Amino acid sequence: MPHLLSASDLPLPQMLLRIRAWEEKRARGRDSRQGLLEQALPFRAEGSVALLFYEPSTRTRAAFEQAVVALGLHPLVITAESASVQKGETLADTVRTLCAQGVVGVVLRHPEAGAAHAAARVSSVPVLNAGDGAHEHPTQAMLDLYTLWVHFGMPDPASHWLAGRKVAIVGDIAHSRVARSNLILLTRVGAEVWLCAPPNLLPAATLPGATLTPCLQEALQNADVVMALRLQRERMEQGLLPSLNAYRRDYQINAQRLACARPDCVVMHPGPLNRGVEISDEVADSARSLILKQVHAGLATRCACLEYALSPHPESGAV
Ligand code: NCD
Repeated sequence: MPHLLSASDLPLPQMLLRIRAWEEKRARGRDSRQGLLEQALPFRAEGSVALLFYEPSTRTRAAFEQAVVALGLHPLVITAESASVQKGETLADTVRTLCAQGVVGVVLRHPEAGAAHAAARVSSVPVLNAGDGAHEHPTQAMLDLYTLWVHFGMPDPASHWLAGRKVAIVGDIAHSRVARSNLILLTRVGAEVWLCAPPNLLPAATLPGATLTPCLQEALQNADVVMALRLQRERMEQGLLPSLNAYRRDYQINAQRLACARPDCVVMHPGPLNRGVEISDEVADSARSLILKQVHAGLATRCACLEYALSPHPESGAV
């Protein structure tokens, strides 16, 4: 079954093209529901997709919910506050329950790393990881990559189209599922990836394909793309971050700092933004910011991800 648990599960050239197709469809048939349904999955069109959101979310949840509807399916949103997890039910039992009720897919956001894999082990339907603790966030990385692909003029998606480009990801790398999933996809298309954080927010182990550095100047030097990340205070042990002011002073992405990046360097952020902390207002709202383009790509990306996970795959024996 094609679960989507890690960025490494994503079939890259195919996904970029499908996201593009969904974007075009959206542009053509903004008010035509039929337009969106044309290429939806007729055999699934009656079912429900469970959206289990056990952590706060605005962008990811809104995009998945709209994507489920765009595919002609029904979103069944369950949050930690409203679920039987409050009564002591395990995630495995919740997933088994939803499968027994006939959902056709499960989208899961969860505070624990590995939760999506655990759900997939007991699920009879595809599980899509919408962010599990500090582990992975594959659909976010996919929409980030798509945003860059469009920005760079939609080069041959099967090529190493980011070869020769430097991408600097700056912020709380140690706790960032976005950084981990992005690293997987960016290196697959040839990017040179730098991960930059204060020493105690760098990961303990090396990450294959990335250059780790506490030196912001070194990370930003000649960068083509800079991605700022939020400090994941909900995942930090106490005392890891000495002071917000020190972080702002030494690591904030602002216009002055970007002077050493390439003149045409673009800036990204997965959101939510802590304006004035990891990124200045001036940069977040500047012409070089791709932040709202990322948000915009979120819906088409989730349409393509759901379509991929819920489609019958010849190797799985399903028809
Ligand atoms: C990220 C997340 O939740 O992992 N946001 C998102 O999904 N758009 C990043 C974050 O919370 O900082």
